[in-house]
Amino acid sequence: MQVEFSNLDPLSLGIDALILFVWSGEHGDHWSSAASAADANLSGELVRLAQEARFNGRPASTLTIPTLGRLPARRIILAGCGSEADFTEEVVSRAVGAAARSARENGAKDIAVALPESTASLDTAAIIEAALIGVRLGLYRFDVYRGKGSPDLQNQPEIASLTLVAPEISENVARSAIARGNAIAAAVNLARDLGNEPASTLTPEHFAQRAHDVAAASNLDIEVLGEAELEALGARAILTVGAGSVNPPRLIRLRYQPDGDTANDKITGLVGKAITFDTGGYSIKPYEGMLDMKGDMAGGAAVLGAMSALRDLACPVPVIGTICVAENMISGTAFRPGDVIEGMNGVTMEILSTDAEGRLVLADGLVDTARRGATEMIDLATLTGAAVVALGNGTTALFASDDELAQKLLGAAEQTGERMWRMPLLAELESKIKGDVADIKNTGGRGGGAITAALFLQHFSEGLPWAHLDIAGSSRQEKAGPTGPKGATGVGVRTLLRYLTT
Ligand code: BES
Ligand code: MN
Ligand code: ZN
Repeated sequence: MQVEFSNLDPLSLGIDALILFVWSGEHGDHWSSAASAADANLSGELVRLAQEARFNGRPASTLTIPTLGRLPARRIILAGCGSEADFTEEVVSRAVGAAARSARENGAKDIAVALPESTASLDTAAIIEAALIGVRLGLYRFDVYRGKGSPDLQNQPEIASLTLVAPEISENVARSAIARGNAIAAAVNLARDLGNEPASTLTPEHFAQRAHDVAAASNLDIEVLGEAELEALGARAILTVGAGSVNPPRLIRLRYQPDGDTANDKITGLVGKAITFDTGGYSIKPYEGMLDMKGDMAGGAAVLGAMSALRDLACPVPVIGTICVAENMISGTAFRPGDVIEGMNGVTMEILSTDAEGRLVLADGLVDTARRGATEMIDLATLTGAAVVALGNGTTALFASDDELAQKLLGAAEQTGERMWRMPLLAELESKIKGDVADIKNTGGRGGGAITAALFLQHFSEGLPWAHLDIAGSSRQEKAGPTGPKGATGVGVRTLLRYLTT
């Protein structure tokens, strides 16, 4: 999709669909100036049609109206933005995402968005960036495995061009907002592509290859550790979890260094769980529980996605990325309940369930990241069903040893619209993971399952400020929404990028 910027009158554009903003209010809706101008050009018919259709500007609602030759744009799509008092980047992304999806459903190929004037909280650059992200996320499809004759692709061809129209902003500022929006959306969609890829192709080795591609394109240092190197390092946990698979595990080490020789007192470490498939091992999952387990690498995918955009966004802090990649399978070489593993920092782990494998691979990833010089660490993992029970599917569970880090992450999440809720690291639950024969055991029973998993990880945070994002519920959505289709969401990428770059 070609993206252009224009400061012409949006009503002069000859396109398939023109997206216009409408807010809802207690005293009726409020139309953007471009939307009001379009209504005036159509003799007030737009407002009448909207009223009859009971379109009232509800957030992410849309109404499509053909112009039948009375305007150069062939259709108007009204995009609902909710209350003007709550006009945020998230609202813009969702409104424009919903409208772009609707444009594609109707067969439009060339679309434009008439962006509203800046507000006290949102400047025009932020609006442009949010709108572009909304379009790119909303239109995302995973079509690698669709046949050529697929009705989805035939009936809904790609949108060819997007024109972002804003009268009051310089070309340069608009261009840099577009560059940022492109980088962020590409990063999220990269994480989605990995999450949607079947485990038969996205093996640990293939994941590492994708990381090499990203590192080359984004000028990152990369090192991939295979079995021999993991053995030498003492990364027994990753080796143990991967031992049952014919596809051996990998530890991916990435590093981003900002341009120019800046002195840095802070180095952020990102650590991702990337189980390319989680059968549960000998503690095997039932049919239903195993269905979506190709997505058990979403934490690692979010780390790779975020790392891919750091250079484009001129992130000012150095970032270490660590991705723990393994396939949790069953075979004669697989690990068993009762086995004991010694972590890289000497903490010993007793296996009660081979299905609690994520915390094991992260144990090695966290210690390795701390040793490579991180001054703070954030891990992302599809870690527990208990997090889904606690918060449902749309919300990430945040645990943190450090209040300032927690507040900053919650703030970043709020701004991007990724929902996140802080949960407590209850020290009194520590006794639930005390080991019988080793230091700690890898399950703490049903009660507080997301918390005991986080407490387990804390044993490997090496005393650094540390945050843990349990994305088991939020990494996948069951049905399409304004910012994307059913499947992998790429959650975490936008929050991490916001946290690291502002
Ligand atoms: N990958 C799963 C967690 C998961 C569940 C992710 C649902 C996405 C959706 C993880 O490896 C796991 O199996 N966790 C167990 C831990 C338990 C054995 C202590 C769980 O949550 O049941
Ligand atoms: Mn598991
Ligand atoms: Zn898992």
